[in-house]
Amino acid sequence: MGFVKYEVQDAVGIITIDREKALNALNSEVLDDLNAAFDNVDLDTVRCLILTGAGDKSFVAGADIGEMSTLTKAEGEAFGKKGNDLFLKIESFPIPVIAAVNGFALGGGCEIAMSCDFRICSENAMFGQPEVGLGITPGFGGTQRLARLVGMGMAKQMIYTARNIKSDEALRIGLVNQVVSSEELLPTAKKIASTIAMQAPIAVRACKKAINDGYQTDINSGAAIEEKLFGSCFETEDQREGMGNFLKKKDDPTKVKHVAFQNK
Ligand code: CAA
Repeated sequence: MGFVKYEVQDAVGIITIDREKALNALNSEVLDDLNAAFDNVDLDTVRCLILTGAGDKSFVAGADIGEMSTLTKAEGEAFGKKGNDLFLKIESFPIPVIAAVNGFALGGGCEIAMSCDFRICSENAMFGQPEVGLGITPGFGGTQRLARLVGMGMAKQMIYTARNIKSDEALRIGLVNQVVSSEELLPTAKKIASTIAMQAPIAVRACKKAINDGYQTDINSGAAIEEKLFGSCFETEDQREGMGNFLKKKDDPTKVKHVAFQNK
């Protein structure tokens, strides 16, 4: 995978988009490599992923403008589908994916960050959907996910004006959960990911599915989705061990002790 690096530390996988010379812009090859990286994650051992970009200047500066510049209508649609398919895969990936945004997250960069479960970023991060300045629409999910995350009015203003926003504004509008220094970005992401990895893994996956699937529907259907997933937890060893530990008062239940939990 030439443009993507993957490493695993304990139960946390780190996927790094590595095309630093082009500020990690997403061309077809990068999209293919990312797709392969997600396909190769060992879900029996990895419980949380971090997605970041190489270097400290840019997370992803968008889809590759050079590649897009000569596309026909049909090719444009196919390129959009290629990005959308990958980002939908990330969004519905069985385990949580945290975007650690280390600089520019523009166009496709903002869009891939939004397909992750949540985002933390460095102080030098900059977010935006500058596509209308290039004569196109956001094409990898920006017209859909930005409004869901920050509200219709703010999303429309950002997209129609092509205005980029800095990390403090991204925090204020809820596009990111936390802003830290560049040096602290990966350590902070790893700390959050490790905390997630220490929880009962089947329950974490079920929470992701319940939140994602429920968000697509009305509250009654969402409650029904939740009930099924809640019920399914009672067939797991994690539930028996987790509740058993509490009842035996063996440990402080607020202390994480699910490290030994199995994915069954
Ligand atoms: N596509 C292709 N190459 C890109 C790129 C992109 N999106 N963004 C940066 N690069 C390349 C530059 O061409 C340059 O390459 P060379 O050294 O070979 O000239 C290299 O990365 C460094 O970039 P700059 O010299 O421009 O760096 P800078 O610090 O002066 O500016 C920047 C940084 C403000 C991010 C600027 O590069 C920029 O505006 N990039 C484009 C951002 C953008 O418009 N993104 C949206 C793309 S459209 C999209 O993503 C559609 C979609 O929804 C699917």
